[in-house]
Amino acid sequence: MTRDVLRQQLEYYRARAGEYDEWFLRRGRYDHGPALNARWFGEVEGVAAALDAFRPAGDVLELACGTGLWTARLVSHAAHITAVDAAPEVVALNRARVDSPIVTYVEADLFAWEPPAHAFDVVFFSFWLSHVPPERFDAFWARVRRALRPGGRFFLIDSRHESTSTAVDQQLPERTATTLTRRLNDGRAFDIVKVFYEPDALRERLARLEWAAEVCQTPTFFLYASGSIADTPDVSC
Ligand SMILES: C[S@@+](CC[C@H](N)C(=O)[O-])C[C@H]1O[C@@H](n2cnc3c(N)ncnc32)[C@H](O)[C@@H]1O
Repeated sequence: MTRDVLRQQLEYYRARAGEYDEWFLRRGRYDHGPALNARWFGEVEGVAAALDAFRPAGDVLELACGTGLWTARLVSHAAHITAVDAAPEVVALNRARVDSPIVTYVEADLFAWEPPAHAFDVVFFSFWLSHVPPERFDAFWARVRRALRPGGRFFLIDSRHESTSTAVDQQLPERTATTLTRRLNDGRAFDIVKVFYEPDALRERLARLEWAAEVCQTPTFFLYASGSIADTPDVSC
């Protein structure tokens, strides 16, 4: 995958910072009506409950922390959070939302940044794995592994292939596509990486990298997973 797509992907999230939450909150172009919105929020709470049950305690590394929608949930469990994102506009919004002394922000490109080795109990990333190009999948997971202490765990959340997850005026490409075009409210278009994972395939791919993972999905919108290099995963679906 060309560097140009990764450059556009970051430009997209920088330009979208102020409108990013509309997606998660189902506002504006992301409003799919009361029934689907209620289903969305119900499934968000299901994933949040799974994260609570996982208990992301201790030193937590959050990759691509975004505007803080999940950082705000992590602070109630963690002793300390290192929250990394390459978009300064996004980090500023996260800082304002979370406003917590236990969060240290790092502005860094995750395709170049090397986390401190064996420094974290938990690595958390929401809606980020799908933006990692397929050919960088193994290198990404090697970094997650290096960041964790022995016995450390990961928790991830991501999107299922579902047309009502995105803006009403955006087309969802085929399940097998690995890039798509996203538009801002003002119509500007960007090509970004978006890879949709199926639970069994993701579990098997992680197993080949020596991760024991439990991969779950909500009925319509979300996939979530947790695991560790040790043998017992923490979440059952
Ligand atoms: C889909 S958002 C997810 C944000 C957050 N985790 C959430 O769940 O709301 C992807 C995030 O990745 C960040 N990002 C994009 N390219 C990046 C890169 N190369 N390095 C670090 N962060 C990047 C964007 O700024 C954006 O905040």
